[in-house]
Amino acid sequence: MSYPYQITSEEGYHAAWKKSIEDPEGFWGEIAEHFEWKRKWDKVLDWNFREPSVKWFDGAQLNITENCIDRHLKTKAHEPAIIWEPNDPNDHHRMFTYQQLHFKVCQFANVLKNNGVQKGDRVCIYMGMIPELAIAVLACARVGAIHSVIFGGFSAQSIADRLKDAQAEFIITCDGAFRGAKDIPLKNVIDDALISCEFVKRVIVYTHTRTAVSMIKGRDVWWEDEIRKVETAGNPDFPAEVMNAEDPLFILYTSGSTGKPKGVVHTCGGYMVYTNYTFVNVFQSQPEDIHFCTADIGWITGHSYIVYGPLSAGTTSLMFEGIPTFPDAGRFWDIIDKYKVNILYTAPTAIRSLMAFGLGPVHGKDLSSLRVLGTVGEPINEEAWHWYDEHIGKKKCPIVDTWWQTETGGILISNMAGITPSKPSYATLPMPGVEPLLVDDKGVEIKENNVTGNLCIRSPWPATIRTTYGDHERCRTNYFATYDNLYFTGDGAYRDENGYYRITGRVDDVLNVSGHRIGTAEVENAINMHAGVVESAVVGFPHDVKGQGIYAYVIYSGSHGDEEMTRRDITATVSRIIGPIAKPDKIQLVTGLPKTRSGKIMRRILRKIAEGEVENLGDTSTLLDPSVVDQIKNSRL
Ligand code: PRX
Repeated sequence: MSYPYQITSEEGYHAAWKKSIEDPEGFWGEIAEHFEWKRKWDKVLDWNFREPSVKWFDGAQLNITENCIDRHLKTKAHEPAIIWEPNDPNDHHRMFTYQQLHFKVCQFANVLKNNGVQKGDRVCIYMGMIPELAIAVLACARVGAIHSVIFGGFSAQSIADRLKDAQAEFIITCDGAFRGAKDIPLKNVIDDALISCEFVKRVIVYTHTRTAVSMIKGRDVWWEDEIRKVETAGNPDFPAEVMNAEDPLFILYTSGSTGKPKGVVHTCGGYMVYTNYTFVNVFQSQPEDIHFCTADIGWITGHSYIVYGPLSAGTTSLMFEGIPTFPDAGRFWDIIDKYKVNILYTAPTAIRSLMAFGLGPVHGKDLSSLRVLGTVGEPINEEAWHWYDEHIGKKKCPIVDTWWQTETGGILISNMAGITPSKPSYATLPMPGVEPLLVDDKGVEIKENNVTGNLCIRSPWPATIRTTYGDHERCRTNYFATYDNLYFTGDGAYRDENGYYRITGRVDDVLNVSGHRIGTAEVENAINMHAGVVESAVVGFPHDVKGQGIYAYVIYSGSHGDEEMTRRDITATVSRIIGPIAKPDKIQLVTGLPKTRSGKIMRRILRKIAEGEVENLGDTSTLLDPSVVDQIKNSRL
């Protein structure tokens, strides 16, 4: 057994789950003993969901980077911590042993310190998927600064909103990022964001794509120059800052049902224990594994299962800069073959898009090193599940369907590879420490099986969201006030006769496009920014590859250009305001929207029309003007 707390049998799973619910403090206290703390906790858990207030390992002190790096130096200093595969397969890959990673993280922690970054400061990181991104994240954690990574697909406006919300005075970025055939000018985007963020004191710029960038005196510095200064000073070591278990580790912005993204806050101690525990158990990882998670570190999956989970477990994390279809649709399979990957963790969207290329790109690739496959981010349809099972896992690799959220920090519901049974399209059973329940719309628990309901969690797990940055009330109303004394996930779920959960999707106004969360209100706000747009309503519709697509109904009063041009202008506006990831797939120009007499848009009707279900729209008699519905139906895209 590689990790003393690794579950090795189905009975072991049931026993662990039972114990964790009956005695959470005893259960997690024992697991936490296997980490390095500078001071032990006074109390394992203290909580109430009404405020909410959740404290794990309170009184304990640690630094997560000592658990992710330093403690492995005794036994595996020369083993790979991070392997990096570049976007262009002809470029050189890079590898960092745990010792080299230690050196790089300490060196960059010194750079941060020299540039004025202190414990508790918010540092925004906006980079492509290069090793320096992981190094920057870990260096922030080393100095006790709170990192806020922003995905490279967000616009200047989105960055500015996040910088202001977090009052982040420091930025780490690079000149540009390669993604497939594209070269994304990240520093330019930052420059645009900073026009309205004069409080930003320092921008550290890493050179990657060698795109020309503007460097503003007194504000912008080159990463490489700053490293040279540390080298000249001679001592690259950086003693890890002592953090309280409940000190914030990071902020990660995510979309909700309102227009403004929320800064989800995770703290040092509980997040570390939980991401490690779930990594080790769900994937049944071994210390010598090569773990390939294809997510971007800009999302929670990358935080938890590229950086903190795998490194705290001492495995090798494979980081890939590019996209699954560049230079061709065999790229993932080439990477698995090249590095003898043991665990592949990806999104259903990626699987579906690769399926569309047929089996040609898989042929001739040696995938025999694979032991476990995983999916995350959105429901996986059975067809994609079976394709993954047959053609990638060759029916020998268990597939873990892992359900979780930015707010949950780590996986909450999933089978454990080869330990508990899988069932296509089901996330199946909760992790130890997690007690899911279904409630009806009134908040009454539905206890039977073979039912659908709103998915809630009864008590905290160590990586529970602690707050939304700068606005605790928002955290309470969003997650803890819908149903009394429960964490509400925003998802619906079905529970079968065995008690297995199948996630049916969001029950709020949040879309899941290619596994990325986008609020309908956010997209509407962006569309409404376009001159000439009077009003808009955005809904999701089923999309073969993306899972969900974005369908926008827009009332447009402008007279500039034809309809097609107007659609393109609106798309460009959304791209400018949120980023390319939020571009609507379909924009239908309409003369009115179906509203009740009180002025509320009846989204149910719009959703049905977008889904193509135009015949059975239900009761439309409460509409102010029912004829609007016919107009919309008749001009449906
Ligand atoms: O709707 C659920 C869906 O993704 C949402 C969380 O999105 P985000 O915070 O961006 O985190 C994604 C990566 C953890 C959930 O509310 N979701 C996530 N995993 C699954 C899923 N839906 C179905 N099955 C899953 N395995």
